[in-house]
Amino acid sequence: MYNIAYFCSLFATIMGISSAFSCTLSRCRRPVSTAYISNKKLCMSSTSTTSSSSGTNTISSDNNELYQERSDILRANSKLSLAPMMEYTDRHFRHLVRLVSDRTLLYTEMVAANAIAHEREAALPPSSSSSLLDGASAEELSFDPSYLLRFLGQGHNAEGASVLQLGGSDPDQLFLASKTVYEFNQLAQIHQQQSSSNNNNAPIFCDYTALNLNCGCPSPKVAGKGCFGAALMQDATLVQQLTSSMYHGSQGSIPITVKCRIGTDEGYQFTRDQYNARSDEEEYQSLKQFIETVASEGIVTDFQVHARIAVLGKNYSPADNRKVPPLRYYQVRRLAEEFPELNISLNGGVETLSGVKRELDECQELDGIMVGRGWMSNPWAFAMSDELLYTDGQQLADSTRPKNRIEVLQAYGQHADYEEERWDPVKIRRFITKAASQLFSGEPNAKRYRIALDEIAGLPKKLMKEDPKLMEVNLHYQNLYWMQRQNI
Ligand SMILES: Cc1cc2nc3c(=O)[nH]c(=O)nc-3n(C[C@H](O)[C@H](O)[C@H](O)COP(=O)(O)O)c2cc1C
Repeated sequence: MYNIAYFCSLFATIMGISSAFSCTLSRCRRPVSTAYISNKKLCMSSTSTTSSSSGTNTISSDNNELYQERSDILRANSKLSLAPMMEYTDRHFRHLVRLVSDRTLLYTEMVAANAIAHEREAALPPSSSSSLLDGASAEELSFDPSYLLRFLGQGHNAEGASVLQLGGSDPDQLFLASKTVYEFNQLAQIHQQQSSSNNNNAPIFCDYTALNLNCGCPSPKVAGKGCFGAALMQDATLVQQLTSSMYHGSQGSIPITVKCRIGTDEGYQFTRDQYNARSDEEEYQSLKQFIETVASEGIVTDFQVHARIAVLGKNYSPADNRKVPPLRYYQVRRLAEEFPELNISLNGGVETLSGVKRELDECQELDGIMVGRGWMSNPWAFAMSDELLYTDGQQLADSTRPKNRIEVLQAYGQHADYEEERWDPVKIRRFITKAASQLFSGEPNAKRYRIALDEIAGLPKKLMKEDPKLMEVNLHYQNLYWMQRQNI
């Protein structure tokens, strides 16, 4: 008799994954002409446009409504969230998590605001100086959305409750990055309408429920440069400005949230022994002051708090910073109790679904638990999260999500196919397979499954090395196929 992991790895290799990953080998970064985006004017009803990061702008009633809708979605799905994790929570992993849970709030990896601002420039049609949307009305103009898609795209269907995390410390860049997200979503919607009326086009999605500012990452790469990541906790007024820029950049249509730590080691030397040199009360008061300042404008109402301080000195790596400073849940609980009007989620060290439930039961004022490494190491362990956290154990009425891991793999295979039609398998397959690599974590033959997956991951590169001609032929047919699809 096959045990489940053995069966699954065979199944994955033979049926699900092999069909999913067996397609093309060609380079797939294809320029997409906005000619296929109709010259229909966008459904925008802004009463005025925002021109500067600090200037106040009039928010249209449509955007107010959109904001409210997104806010409701955010609130309704925040009991469990997938933490932002660089090189993990890409659109592939988020897709996998969505197959496991309809309700989990998905955070992207952090995207640097300056990278978006830079790509925005590259994407803008030559004659359009201020808006991606200008180009959408002019058929002859074209731009390649793949650069922005790489940072902002969500995959081949709507992602559900999800949050895009931005990193930065320059109000103008965060303004521009948020404006880009707003406009790109508008373009994606036009593209979706096109796709449904013309089955040849694969739709684009960029519909995030909220934007989040990273004030918790202690990585020297991030923290050192112009007050970025956790270093921002030392300047609450700047954080207030940054979040205001994000709000105005997105034309008031998207809630803005902040992920932070309970503090930093600013002002005292952190060592394991001397941590207690600073009193709990002092630590709490500076956290409280940070939250009060950031929330004072009414723009930020949701905080995700990693219950450790960030040690910004060079001697502590990001990994140290996720395990050395002790967890102090009581500081986050106190925050949730003292600020019931804010939405506070606790993060750090919660690894299992029962742990999530326990923490929520322990402090009723907490709105959610954010889990990072737990999801990363065993996604299927959260398969019952919707039922446990939202429906008192009842099956969700309208859920169509897979019932077991084989069904997850089959559905994930469709995602893989879609991705490989759009992007270069040589470059992208490793990311696709990486996201599914822990699906059988804890099962007896999980390792065999991972090895099978690893082989599949390396296949395009191997084949390309063995026979570049095959690659060329493929590329030729791929290009023809693509041009036909785009009616070029
Ligand atoms: C590999 C990795 C990458 C991470 N990248 C980010 C990031 O991009 N942005 C961020 O705010 N936090 C990042 N974090 C921190 C997590 O979001 C989370 O705060 C931390 O892992 C603690 O939660 P956990 O104990 O549930 O893993 C990262 C963590 C890991 C392990």
